[in-house]
Order: sequence, then C-alpha cells, then structure tokens
Amino acid sequence: MAIVEKYFSGNKINYKRMKINHKFSAFIFFILMALVSSCQYDTLVKPVIPPPNPADTISFAKTIEPIFNDNSNCTVCHNTGGQVPDLTTGYAYNSITSMGLINISDPVSSKIYWIPNPVNSSGHTWKKYTDVQAQFVLQWIKQGALDN
Ligand code: HEC
Repeated sequence: MAIVEKYFSGNKINYKRMKINHKFSAFIFFILMALVSSCQYDTLVKPVIPPPNPADTISFAKTIEPIFNDNSNCTVCHNTGGQVPDLTTGYAYNSITSMGLINISDPVSSKIYWIPNPVNSSGHTWKKYTDVQAQFVLQWIKQGALDN
C-alpha cells in the first residue's frame, strides 16, 4: 500500500518511478527464472550410472571407495575414530577385511554388501546403497574382494 501511495502522491502519477520499478521487477523475474532453471539443470544432468558390465574388473580404489566417500555417503558416520567400519579412503580396505565383513565363499552374505543393501529391509537403517552401487560391491566381492 505504501508504494502505491507513493506513486499517486498528490494525485500526480509518478511515471518515472513506475518505469524504474518495472525494470526492477523484470530483473527480479529474470533472477528467479535463472534460479529455477539452475535447479532443473542440476537434476537433469545428474548422471545415470549404468550397472557394472560382468566382464569388467571392479577396482576397489577407483569404484568402491568412491561409493563410500561420494558426498560423504557413508563416511559421514564411518570415519576414522567414528563408527566402525572406517570407510574413508586408504583405511576402508583394512577395516572391512579385519572386521570380517566379506565372505568370499558366499559373496551375497558379505556384510559390506548385504547390511546397507536397498532390498534388505532388516538391514542398516542409516543409509543404503543405490541398486547399482550394491551391484558394483557384489561384483567386486565375487572377483575376490581385491585391494586393487
Ligand atoms: C548416519 C550414520 C551412518 C551412515 C551414513 C552409514 N552408516 Fe553404516 N552404520 C551406522 C551405525 C550406527 C552402525 C552400527 C549399528 C547398526 O548396524 O545399525 C552401522 C553399521 C554398518 C555396518 C555393519 C558393521 C558390522 O559390524 O556388522 C556396515 C557394513 C555399514 N554400516 C556400512 C555402511 C555403508 C556401506 C554406508 C554407506 C552406504 C553406511 N554404512 C552409512 C551408521 C551409519
């Protein structure tokens, strides 16, 4: 109301003020659109990660550790001095193997695969792998759970 009163003050319409104001609202509109579209951009370019090719050798350092670390996925809790296993880069392999979280003879029962598995309703409620991440972890275990 106060703004409207200003435009019409003394029964004289302040056209100059209104013009500036139009430019200003166009500017605000532009900023809002930029914000909205930048959000959409963010979701649109999110890479869709295909499941592992069974013929590929999965590298612990290149593929598995980044699953634990990506956006602090697991390492926000599982870090050095925090919740065991320590899943931070450089410590994860030792921690997983020394805690016996891998079962080479029955890979699907490996705790590091099964506890945070999205289809395990009685598992880890904190955070789960995505379906594709779980497939990578399983393939890595099936290939001998190497420190590669
Ligand atoms: C918000 C904190 C939090 C996050 C994030 C988290 N965890 Fe956990 N995790 C825990 C806690 C607390 C426990 C122990 C209690 C339990 O099992 O619920 C645990 C237990 C585990 C265990 C079982 C260890 C054992 O001794 O049997 C595994 C394996 C595990 N987490 C893996 C993961 C993986 C992989 C991720 C990432 C996908 C992850 N966690 C993310 C808190 C977390």
